[in-house]
Amino acid sequence: MRLSTFAPTLLLAACGLSHAADAPAAAALDLAKASGCLSCHAMAEKIVGPAFQDVASKYAGDKDAAATLAQSIRNGSSGKWSKRIAMPPQANLSNADLATLAKWVLAQK
Ligand code: HEC
Repeated sequence: MRLSTFAPTLLLAACGLSHAADAPAAAALDLAKASGCLSCHAMAEKIVGPAFQDVASKYAGDKDAAATLAQSIRNGSSGKWSKRIAMPPQANLSNADLATLAKWVLAQK
């Protein structure tokens, strides 16, 4: 098989796998909206909290990032991004929702 026909097949297979492993992005976005995240956060620019793309690049390559962020979301966070504004705890989210949101934030680019 020539590489030119083989490479796209590989790419498609890789995309299929990564989608199967995570909750679909659209569902995660709905969860973020329903949880009020987007009143303080946006993908590409800072509002009250940091842009989710900036969070993703800060933690790129950190293998514990999903757990760290799930904890920051549940317990709130202060001093990491802003000296003046803290993120309030989001204590009513299930562990599954926290994991979905943390992975979704890390996937923004
Ligand atoms: C009232 C405003 C507000 C709301 C609502 C809010 N955040 Fe935040 N968020 C912040 C602020 C401010 C920070 C920066 C805190 C700091 O400097 O440590 C932050 C930080 C974060 C971080 C980075 C934490 C870290 O450890 O680096 C993540 C991830 C995050 N928020 C996700 C979410 C998600 C998901 C939701 C919805 C469930 C949410 N936030 C709701 C204001 C908010």
